[in-house]
Amino acid sequence: MSGADVEVDWDALEAAAAAARERAYAPYSGYRVGAALLGEDGAIYVGQNVENASYGLSLCAERAAVATAIGAGVRRFLALVVTTQGARPAAPCGMCRQVLAEFAPPFDVRCVSVDGGRLDTSVRELLPHAFSGAYLDD
Ligand code: THU
Repeated sequence: MSGADVEVDWDALEAAAAAARERAYAPYSGYRVGAALLGEDGAIYVGQNVENASYGLSLCAERAAVATAIGAGVRRFLALVVTTQGARPAAPCGMCRQVLAEFAPPFDVRCVSVDGGRLDTSVRELLPHAFSGAYLDD
Protein backbone atom coordinates (compact mmCIF):
# COMPACT_ATOMS: atom_id res chain seq x y z
CA MET A 1 0.00 0.00 0.00
CA SER A 2 1.47 3.34 -0.95
CA GLY A 3 -1.54 5.63 -0.61
CA ALA A 4 -0.54 7.27 -3.90
CA ASP A 5 -3.96 6.68 -5.45
CA VAL A 6 -6.01 7.60 -2.36
CA GLU A 7 -7.73 10.99 -2.59
CA VAL A 8 -8.20 12.99 0.59
CA ASP A 9 -11.93 13.51 1.06
CA TRP A 10 -11.86 16.28 3.64
CA ASP A 11 -15.66 16.39 3.91
CA ALA A 12 -15.80 12.69 4.78
CA LEU A 13 -13.03 13.14 7.34
CA GLU A 14 -14.82 16.10 8.90
CA ALA A 15 -18.05 14.10 9.14
CA ALA A 16 -16.23 11.15 10.71
CA ALA A 17 -14.46 13.37 13.25
CA ALA A 18 -17.73 15.09 14.18
CA ALA A 19 -19.44 11.72 14.67
CA ALA A 20 -16.54 10.47 16.79
CA ARG A 21 -16.71 13.63 18.89
CA GLU A 22 -20.31 12.75 19.76
CA ARG A 23 -19.00 9.55 21.35
CA ALA A 24 -16.33 11.28 23.46
CA TYR A 25 -16.16 10.40 27.14
CA ALA A 26 -15.40 13.74 28.74
CA PRO A 27 -17.40 13.97 31.98
CA TYR A 28 -14.66 15.95 33.78
CA SER A 29 -13.69 18.70 31.34
CA GLY A 30 -16.87 18.61 29.28
CA TYR A 31 -14.55 19.31 26.32
CA ARG A 32 -15.28 16.76 23.66
CA VAL A 33 -12.84 16.07 20.83
CA GLY A 34 -13.14 13.86 17.76
CA ALA A 35 -10.41 12.80 15.35
CA ALA A 36 -10.46 11.10 11.96
CA LEU A 37 -7.30 9.76 10.37
CA LEU A 38 -7.12 8.74 6.72
CA GLY A 39 -5.02 5.63 6.29
CA GLU A 40 -3.04 4.82 3.16
CA ASP A 41 -5.56 2.02 2.61
CA GLY A 42 -8.26 4.66 2.05
CA ALA A 43 -10.10 3.82 5.27
CA ILE A 44 -10.89 6.34 7.99
CA TYR A 45 -9.85 5.56 11.56
CA VAL A 46 -11.55 7.54 14.28
CA GLY A 47 -10.93 8.32 17.91
CA GLN A 48 -12.38 10.48 20.65
CA ASN A 49 -11.07 11.65 23.98
CA VAL A 50 -11.49 9.26 26.88
CA GLU A 51 -11.18 10.93 30.28
CA ASN A 52 -10.58 9.35 33.64
CA ALA A 53 -11.30 10.22 37.27
CA SER A 54 -7.52 10.16 37.64
CA TYR A 55 -7.22 13.15 35.32
CA GLY A 56 -3.70 12.53 34.07
CA LEU A 57 -4.77 9.24 32.52
CA SER A 58 -7.06 10.93 30.02
CA LEU A 59 -6.52 9.93 26.42
CA CYS A 60 -6.73 12.47 23.61
CA ALA A 61 -8.83 11.87 20.52
CA GLU A 62 -5.83 11.99 18.19
CA ARG A 63 -3.93 9.25 20.02
CA ALA A 64 -7.10 7.16 20.25
CA ALA A 65 -7.42 7.41 16.44
CA VAL A 66 -3.79 6.40 15.98
CA ALA A 67 -4.30 3.39 18.24
CA THR A 68 -7.36 2.33 16.23
CA ALA A 69 -5.42 2.51 12.97
CA ILE A 70 -2.36 0.72 14.31
CA GLY A 71 -4.65 -2.02 15.61
CA ALA A 72 -6.01 -2.39 12.08
CA GLY A 73 -2.49 -2.79 10.72
CA VAL A 74 -2.25 0.68 9.14
CA ARG A 75 0.85 2.76 9.88
CA ARG A 76 0.94 5.37 7.14
CA PHE A 77 -1.52 8.22 7.01
CA LEU A 78 -2.56 10.83 4.50
CA ALA A 79 -4.61 13.29 6.53
CA LEU A 80 -6.11 14.03 9.93
CA VAL A 81 -9.14 16.06 10.99
CA VAL A 82 -9.62 17.11 14.61
CA THR A 83 -12.95 18.55 15.72
CA THR A 84 -13.43 20.58 18.88
CA GLN A 85 -16.14 22.74 20.35
CA GLY A 86 -16.50 26.52 20.29
CA ALA A 87 -15.41 29.02 17.69
CA ARG A 88 -11.66 28.47 17.73
CA PRO A 89 -10.27 25.32 16.14
CA ALA A 90 -7.87 23.69 18.61
CA ALA A 91 -4.63 22.17 17.38
CA PRO A 92 -3.38 18.85 18.81
CA CYS A 93 -1.57 18.99 22.16
CA GLY A 94 2.17 18.51 22.36
CA MET A 95 1.97 14.86 23.31
CA CYS A 96 -0.25 14.11 20.33
CA ARG A 97 2.04 16.05 18.00
CA GLN A 98 4.94 13.80 18.95
CA VAL A 99 2.81 10.69 18.46
CA LEU A 100 1.61 11.90 15.04
CA ALA A 101 5.20 12.71 14.03
CA GLU A 102 6.14 9.08 14.61
CA PHE A 103 4.37 8.19 11.41
CA ALA A 104 6.40 9.54 8.54
CA PRO A 105 5.93 10.86 5.97
CA PRO A 106 4.22 13.75 7.69
CA PHE A 107 0.70 14.48 6.58
CA ASP A 108 -1.78 17.33 6.46
CA VAL A 109 -3.92 18.20 9.48
CA ARG A 110 -7.17 20.14 9.55
CA CYS A 111 -8.52 21.45 12.85
CA VAL A 112 -12.17 22.44 12.80
CA SER A 113 -14.50 23.78 15.44
CA VAL A 114 -18.17 22.95 15.57
CA ASP A 115 -18.92 26.67 15.11
CA GLY A 116 -17.17 26.73 11.74
CA GLY A 117 -13.58 27.69 12.57
CA ARG A 118 -10.83 26.05 10.55
CA LEU A 119 -7.06 25.76 10.74
CA ASP A 120 -5.24 23.94 7.95
CA THR A 121 -1.79 22.84 8.95
CA SER A 122 0.47 19.78 8.88
CA VAL A 123 2.35 17.49 11.22
CA ARG A 124 5.61 19.08 10.11
CA GLU A 125 4.32 22.56 10.84
CA LEU A 126 2.90 21.51 14.21
CA LEU A 127 6.15 19.90 15.34
CA PRO A 128 9.26 21.08 13.50
CA HIS A 129 12.48 19.27 14.41
CA ALA A 130 10.49 16.37 15.83
CA PHE A 131 12.35 13.69 17.70
CA SER A 132 12.31 10.47 15.72
CA GLY A 133 13.62 6.94 15.80
CA ALA A 134 16.38 8.02 13.40
CA TYR A 135 18.18 9.70 16.30
CA LEU A 136 18.35 6.40 18.13
CA ASP A 137 20.73 5.10 15.45
CA ASP A 138 23.27 7.90 15.98
N1 THU B 1 -7.83 16.78 24.19
C1 THU B 1 -7.79 16.03 23.07
O1 THU B 1 -8.54 15.06 22.91
N2 THU B 1 -6.89 16.36 22.11
C2 THU B 1 -5.97 17.38 22.22
O2 THU B 1 -5.11 17.53 21.39
C3 THU B 1 -6.07 18.31 23.34
C4 THU B 1 -6.98 17.90 24.46
C5 THU B 1 -8.79 16.39 25.25
C6 THU B 1 -8.14 15.85 26.49
C7 THU B 1 -9.17 16.14 27.53
O3 THU B 1 -10.10 15.07 27.56
C8 THU B 1 -9.90 17.38 27.01
O4 THU B 1 -9.53 17.52 25.65
C9 THU B 1 -9.53 18.65 27.76
O5 THU B 1 -8.15 18.83 27.82
